[in-house]
Amino acid sequence: MAYRIPSRVALSRMSTPGKVPIVACHPVAISQIQQRHSSHSPLGSPPTIQRKKITLESLRSLYKKNEPITMITAHDFPSGHVADHAGMDMVLVGDSLAMVALGMEDTSEVLLDEMILHCRSVSRATKSAFTIGDLPMGSYEVSPSQALESAIRVIKEGRVQGVKLEGGTEMAAAIQRIASAGIPVLGHVGLTPQRQNSLGGFRVQGKTTLGALKVLEDAIAVQEAGAFAVVLEAVPAEVASLVTKKLQIPTIGIGAGNGCSGQVLVQVDMSGNFPPGRFLPKFVKKYGDVWGESMKAMQAYKEEVKNRSYPEPQHTYPMPADELSQFQQAIQIESV
Ligand code: KIV
Repeated sequence: MAYRIPSRVALSRMSTPGKVPIVACHPVAISQIQQRHSSHSPLGSPPTIQRKKITLESLRSLYKKNEPITMITAHDFPSGHVADHAGMDMVLVGDSLAMVALGMEDTSEVLLDEMILHCRSVSRATKSAFTIGDLPMGSYEVSPSQALESAIRVIKEGRVQGVKLEGGTEMAAAIQRIASAGIPVLGHVGLTPQRQNSLGGFRVQGKTTLGALKVLEDAIAVQEAGAFAVVLEAVPAEVASLVTKKLQIPTIGIGAGNGCSGQVLVQVDMSGNFPPGRFLPKFVKKYGDVWGESMKAMQAYKEEVKNRSYPEPQHTYPMPADELSQFQQAIQIESV
């Protein structure tokens, strides 16, 4: 059926006398008074409790008071936003991004540019938490200069406050170079997932006397090189505890027991944002069921769309009756 659609000018003349026709409105005036009738709204909202920005100084003070430091990963704006609102001291844009946000097989695939994009996204949300970007494999091992160049990009482009890199004694020179340029470095020893191929997989480190001595030696090297803290991943709790006592910088444990200066977990793991049956390492505690809640919500939505019970009248925009009848006249339809 062909409708005779009146021109915009004719339509504006059809408007109710006394009302300003849409075409006569100035665009600036509209944008000033308009609410966003769209889901394209910024996600941000002010935190319920205003917190000061966490700095190296605040982290040192927590360490001195023996108050555990809380750290969690975030890989995009929403996950950074919730971490910041929840009051995390530190947020890590970890290269676990590769698997849990980008669907890659392991961390070796993720690129520096990709890490930077995700750091930018997270750092827009983390107004308070001290935010760290991981240096991905291949972006720091070649030389201390390469490490510094990558770290500068992560800070300047990613807008985070510090960088993390994996490795102990062999990475001391790189850490030293980055730290001496005024960039806070978080070390990472014990299980270093970027080296899974040479470690023979994701294995617990420091289970023998020699292994434990190696973890300690690496942690001390990282500290001497100028790191402000060090992640201890997958080492026996007793070893992590003793290493923590030997150091003068905080240790952040993941799979390293309760004797560290703080803890870090991957957000999707601890919030339960993954399908049933996924492998979880022993140290992960599932504090929530984000996957289950999302599934419930989406299944209910699907059902309601299919049976036309959504949207209901309260989810739609009203139109004045006279405008509707003029519209019907204009397209020559009696009623809808
Ligand atoms: O990439 C990451 O998320 C990490 C944490 C597990 C420490 O390195």
